[in-house]
Amino acid sequence: MLVNKKYVKRHAKGFVYLHWINAICFFMLFLTALPLYADTFRFLYDMFGAKTLQNAHRFFAVLFVLNPVIGLFTARGGIWRMFSEVFKFNGKDVTFLVKFPLELIGKHPEGIPKQGFYNGGERMNIALQLATWAALVVSGALLWFGDGLIDNSIRAWMIPIHSLCAGIGFAGSIGHIYLALVANPDSVHGMQDGTIKVDYASAHHGEWIDDMVREGKIRQKDLDEVLKP
Ligand code: HEM
Repeated sequence: MLVNKKYVKRHAKGFVYLHWINAICFFMLFLTALPLYADTFRFLYDMFGAKTLQNAHRFFAVLFVLNPVIGLFTARGGIWRMFSEVFKFNGKDVTFLVKFPLELIGKHPEGIPKQGFYNGGERMNIALQLATWAALVVSGALLWFGDGLIDNSIRAWMIPIHSLCAGIGFAGSIGHIYLALVANPDSVHGMQDGTIKVDYASAHHGEWIDDMVREGKIRQKDLDEVLKP
């Protein structure tokens, strides 16, 4: 069923909270570690003190781990869909990824295949963020608690691994934010109240909308009403 004749339900509230808590944690973890990497950010130590930043880093690390654990109860459907989507990467996603970059420079590429709930780029973002989350958590936990538990030569490797994953995750999230806020601003509504405009959904996730019609979740008549020229 369409919401207010114009919107389609996309994300559950629990998944929206999960997303934003994860985003805040990620950036706070990044920010509180920055002075360790570049003197330009030493002013953060001067402002807050090194100990406060270290404690804040650990606080957000705990939240970063607990958030998806709580999400298993409050956002099970969204988490399950993310995991299942990662393994659905197929030829259509490749065609999408080849043609899509033109959209970034304001063109409308021909022949993009209808996309499912998540498109090829989103699937890549999901895979990247899941992998960096796991690697950050494991390497971070070993840096925090590993003294005496594992060999110091192995523990020393956790620093470059942790840093590399933070860098890759950050680069990915900058691309993701650009695509959400600049290239597809209509998508952001889905991460506010969980709904997106049905004409946007139909243009960007046509296969998902077709499925919803087939499953009787949207009436073809209501859809035609919104999409009529
Ligand atoms: C200002 C910051 C951010 C904005 C505006 C934003 C926006 C969005 C939007 C609109 C969606 C839903 C896309 C859809 O329904 O198809 C989404 C999904 C997602 N976001 Fe974010 N996001 C932000 C930060 C982050 C950060 C920091 C991370 C990870 C560290 C992240 C990870 C994800 C993932 C994995 C998904 C699901 C797949 C995808 O759409 O790529 N987001 N985000």
